[in-house]
Amino acid sequence: MSEHVTVVDHPLVQHKLTQMRVKDTPTADFRRLLREIAHLLAYEVMRDLPLEQTRIETPMEPMTAPQIEGKKLVLVSILRAGNGLLDGVLDLVPQARVGHIGLYRDPETLVAVEYYLKVPSDIEDRLVIVVDPMLATANSASAALTRLKEVGARNLKFLCLLAAPEGIETLSREHPDVPIFTASIDDRLDDHGYIRPGLGDAGDRMFGTR
Ligand code: URA
Repeated sequence: MSEHVTVVDHPLVQHKLTQMRVKDTPTADFRRLLREIAHLLAYEVMRDLPLEQTRIETPMEPMTAPQIEGKKLVLVSILRAGNGLLDGVLDLVPQARVGHIGLYRDPETLVAVEYYLKVPSDIEDRLVIVVDPMLATANSASAALTRLKEVGARNLKFLCLLAAPEGIETLSREHPDVPIFTASIDDRLDDHGYIRPGLGDAGDRMFGTR
């Protein structure tokens, strides 16, 4: 696997992911698990954030200590399932700016159609982390990254929970500058664009809309 793709294989991530895959896992547990995994994935996505030294005073004495440098991050959720990952990542970086992009998959062609876009105006100088739990065909992810680049994003990362090899291939080809982080690369896509073995429809499972 290229260094462009990071599979977060920490035992906690893998254990929680298995629980999410189980078809009888209730909605509330599914949502909680996604949020918990998002914490662990976010930790990995942000591993190389630059630090700067700042002067502080502890109750004992002054010291120089590291803090994250530069402008605040931007998190962009691909609606609607992206919101589940977003909540967990925001727990770790509550000061981040948040954008949303709405894309639905045309059920016939599987092509992504945009219906909503709202992102912070000054995303040029910020790290933009795009979140969507399922990287399946990569049509939505690729369209989202293209739009974000059009509105100025230059430093992007893509964070998902599960990926299909086909999705990784497409996204890497169309956006070779965007590193991908995932908890698993599953076997394949089926004819309906679902990841196999996967976990089903992430949005439905998260929101109980099955
Ligand atoms: N979106 C989902 O929610 N699940 C899949 O398997 C593929 C895309």
